[in-house]
Amino acid sequence: MARSKIGLVGAGQIGGTLAFLAGLKELGDVVLFDIVDGVPQGKALDLAESSPVEGFDAKLTGASSYEALSGADVVIVTAGVPRKPGMSRDDLIGTNLKVMEQVGAGIAKYAPDAFVICITNPLDAMVWALREASGLPPEKVVGMAGVLDSSRFRYFLAEEFGVSVEDVTAFVLGGHGDTMVPLPRYSTVAGVPLPDLVKMGWTTQEKLDQIIQRTRDGGAEIVGLLKTGSAFYAPAASAIAMAESYLKDKKRVLPIAAHLTGQYGVDGIYVGVPAVIGAAGVERIVEIELDDAEKAAFDKSVGAVKGLIDACKAIAPNLG
Ligand code: APR
Repeated sequence: MARSKIGLVGAGQIGGTLAFLAGLKELGDVVLFDIVDGVPQGKALDLAESSPVEGFDAKLTGASSYEALSGADVVIVTAGVPRKPGMSRDDLIGTNLKVMEQVGAGIAKYAPDAFVICITNPLDAMVWALREASGLPPEKVVGMAGVLDSSRFRYFLAEEFGVSVEDVTAFVLGGHGDTMVPLPRYSTVAGVPLPDLVKMGWTTQEKLDQIIQRTRDGGAEIVGLLKTGSAFYAPAASAIAMAESYLKDKKRVLPIAAHLTGQYGVDGIYVGVPAVIGAAGVERIVEIELDDAEKAAFDKSVGAVKGLIDACKAIAPNLG
């Protein structure tokens, strides 16, 4: 059977890490595409030269034309600019919206059957714009945010409890931004929900609140430390988990930015919700009951995403 093909649009920090992880996990052949000539070619060659040492078989190539995406099974989009200290994800909207329009057209032309994962920020608005610009079916275009946000939450919780990261699950809803909604009662250590762990004395409510705030600010914490760009290892690992679930039809239940059609009372936009990812793309949205406080926080987050999409529509009225 022929290997799967993974197209990476954007060969920057996240793009290079995606290529390395896709190689290490033998997910398929990888083509890196970027507008800066030489960078995707150089990174692809460097990565290919690591394959004998790491023992993976994959063809890694670099390209400066969208044609290279032809026949891709998965396309992961990181094209655009990352934020610098002091910037919010929303500050990137003008620049990255134009990039999404170009990338969407390229995917529509050369990889219309691909499962597309958007990472470019501000995520919930950019994945919406990419879907509009590409015209692909909504269940084949998703955004990566929730896997990353919940991974950050899981890591901080595992540190707090002194337990393996493997045994901590976390549930995060809403937009990828300051309004994201971590849900403690659906987050567990080996099945024990966080509120019970507070009652058991494993942590305090105050400490838990601090961890939730640190999760919300997780991206900004890294930007503040790096000063020259934003996080790339954990975002890349998160998108690879989504790509793997699609390519292997694993049907993992992952928090993703998905196109909603009435679920959670939201219609026609992308917001972070848990979903089953399999060979058909987004196969099912997991819709849970929210209590009043959770619903209020979710609605606030949806409002923020709507505001960003309205800003996109004002800049590019042809979308939507
Ligand atoms: N088409 C293709 N590639 C492009 C385009 C375009 N129109 N515009 C920019 N790029 C490329 C840049 O040349 C660069 O190599 O996108 C790449 C982005 O890489 P980095 O600047 O290293 O950014 P990275 O850290 O990978 O983040 C990319 O993901 O998490 C988000 O906020 C982050 O929006 C940012 C994106």
